[in-house]
Amino acid sequence: MSGVEHMSTLKLSGEPLDEAQAGVINLAMRITDLHTDLREMLVAGTVVRRDETMARRTTLRVGGPADLYVEPTSEADLATTLQFARVHSVPVFFLGRGSNLLIRDGGIRGLVICLCHPSFSRIEVEGEWVRCGAGAYLRQIANAARDGGLTGFEFLEGIPGSLGGALRMNAGAMGGWMFDRVERLRYMDRVGEVLEITGEEAGARYRGCPLLVKHIALGAVLKGTPAAREVISERMTASNQKRWSSQPKQPSAGCTFKNPAQDTPAGRLIDELGLKGTRVGDAMVSDVHANFFVNLGQATATDVLRLLELVRQRVHEARGIELEPEVEIIGEDLNPS
Ligand code: EPU
Repeated sequence: MSGVEHMSTLKLSGEPLDEAQAGVINLAMRITDLHTDLREMLVAGTVVRRDETMARRTTLRVGGPADLYVEPTSEADLATTLQFARVHSVPVFFLGRGSNLLIRDGGIRGLVICLCHPSFSRIEVEGEWVRCGAGAYLRQIANAARDGGLTGFEFLEGIPGSLGGALRMNAGAMGGWMFDRVERLRYMDRVGEVLEITGEEAGARYRGCPLLVKHIALGAVLKGTPAAREVISERMTASNQKRWSSQPKQPSAGCTFKNPAQDTPAGRLIDELGLKGTRVGDAMVSDVHANFFVNLGQATATDVLRLLELVRQRVHEARGIELEPEVEIIGEDLNPS
């Protein structure tokens, strides 16, 4: 961390720096130092980058850079990274496949960890059990279960995410929830210790698993039910067809709002108010499904957030219902200076 503490006295072109400029330089230097130190502690195969563009790591295709970005190759490197972050008080965010995420345009101050290395993406079917790593794609889990003659995973087929993200969000579709299928969950806590609990002990609820906000899922054992492969294939096709006919194909982060507890589903509410096609910049309320906001090409996170606020206000004014975002919104606004 050499030199960082002395930066507030630094001068450019002989002019004293104002507080904001000094702050930016301090931060940049600190990130450089952290990057160098962390790089040295991890094996060569582990990806460690600074200023990693996040827009290309989310399905909505918006968002500024992360200060530090790590893809560990092993649990040991993950543990080292978490311990490092703790010692240096660096905030940590766990990234899955970015399919339910809205990252603000200023990016993420801190460290983003993604378990997308193949060592975290294994899928093994054994009897009625599917053992998978947090980085495994949901579609691949559904395919592996089908090949192993196990039903109960068809709903995962078209969800564009990883197991880790789906556990954290308790993702659901077509009447099924991720935690319906979880027998055992392995996760790592913030000091790098590996723990294993039952699916029930994780305490998941509609669109959330609080335990996995703080800790990181490593993998799970899922339970299926034996069935004929042809039947499973048919169910997957039906699920897929329903999705393709009722959800947009353009980049999005899936459903923007949670469905309100007792009321009409968010998509129908927004649709009934005639808001399909409403735009802010290149962010638009989908004309296929009103709870999806799509990126027509050049949308920024600010566009999407303004659209979200506009829709939320309109629904509140017209129906008195307070919609709650379902997408996870993280990161900093762009600093205008
Ligand atoms: N509807 C409309 N207009 C619209 C959209 C929907 O009238 O523009 C109506 C539909 O006709 C239907 C009702 O609203 O009667 C519910 O729509 P849908 O069946 O599409 O389900 P949803 O409640 O909108 C939920 C999940 C989706 C999941 C689908 C399919 C939430 C917030 N959303 O959507 O999950 O894919 O069911 O099972 O729970 C996600 O979480 O990101 C997501 C996409």
